Amino acid sequence: MNKNKFIPYFGSKRKETDIILPYVYPSKKTIDVFGGSGSVGISIKQEHPTTLIYNDVNENLIELIKVLKKNNKNLVKNWNKNTTIKTFKTKNDAEKFLNNKLNKTNDDLKYIVLCLYSHMNTFYILDRDFSLGVIKQSNGSFRLGLNKIDENYFETYKNINKIISKDYKQVLKTYCNDSNAFLYLDPPYLNNKGGQNAKYDKGFNEEDIDDIFDFMDNCDCMVMLNVNYDKIYKEKVKEYKNTNIILKKCYSGNYSAKGGNKYKHCIITNY
Ligand SMILES: C[S@@+](CC[C@H](N)C(=O)[O-])C[C@H]1O[C@@H](n2cnc3c(N)ncnc32)[C@H](O)[C@@H]1O
Repeated sequence: MNKNKFIPYFGSKRKETDIILPYVYPSKKTIDVFGGSGSVGISIKQEHPTTLIYNDVNENLIELIKVLKKNNKNLVKNWNKNTTIKTFKTKNDAEKFLNNKLNKTNDDLKYIVLCLYSHMNTFYILDRDFSLGVIKQSNGSFRLGLNKIDENYFETYKNINKIISKDYKQVLKTYCNDSNAFLYLDPPYLNNKGGQNAKYDKGFNEEDIDDIFDFMDNCDCMVMLNVNYDKIYKEKVKEYKNTNIILKKCYSGNYSAKGGNKYKHCIITNY
C-alpha cells in the first residue's frame, strides 16, 4: 500500500503503483512526463534512488505542486487551527467569506486552499475555471468546507527534484539520446477532449500515439508507457520491433463505488 499523500487527481495511478514498480527500469534520472498527481514518479524515487523530474502542461497544477514542494509546514499550522465547515445563504456570501479569510494569508497557503479544498477535492476543474468553488446544498444554501490541510502532502512532494511544464514532445526530445534516463509515460485517454485536458483541446489522438511508439523504438533512453489495454495499443505494439507489452492486468477504477467501472491497463516498455 502506498503511504504517500498524493493530491486527488483525475486519472491518478496512485492505487496501481505497487503493480507498476517491479517493472520500472532503475536509472539515474526518472522523468514523469505526464505527471498529474506525481504518484508514479514519487513512488519510483522512493524505491530506487534517482533524480526525479516532474512535468505536466497544466499550469495550475504545476503551481500547486511547486507550493507543496516548498515543504512549509508552519504555513498551515494556523490555518488548521481554524478550519470549519460553514453554510451561507448565497454563493456570493460564501465567496466573500473565503476571500476575506484568504486575504489575510500567505499566497502559497491561498493556493493550496483554493486548489484542494474550495474545489471540493477535485482537480480537473482547474483547466476550465479557477474561480472560487462552493458546494450547493439541497436546501438551497451554500456550503464551504475549509478542511484541514494534510501536512503529509509536504513530505510527499519534497521528493520531486525538478518541476517543468512543457508539452510532452519537447520533453521526449530533451531525453532522446540520454541512456541514463527513464521516462514514465501516462498520457491522457485517447480522444479525450474534455475532462482534465480541456486545454489540450485536440485531445490525445492516434498521431500522438504513433509519435510515442516511434520515439520508443528509436531513442537511447528507457521508456515505460502505461495505458488502457485496448485495441489500438495492442495493434501498435506489433508494428514496432523494440516495444513489448509486459503487463496487461493492471486494474484501476472507482474502488469506493459499488460495482464501479474497472479498466484494464497495460504496461508497454522498450526494454
Ligand atoms: C492520465 S494523467 C496522468 C496521471 C498521473 N500518472 C497520476 O498518477 O496522477 C495525464 C496528464 O497529462 C497531462 N497532459 C496532457 N497533455 C499533455 C501534454 N501535451 N504534455 C504534457 N502533459 C500533458 C495532463 O495535464 C494530465 O495531468
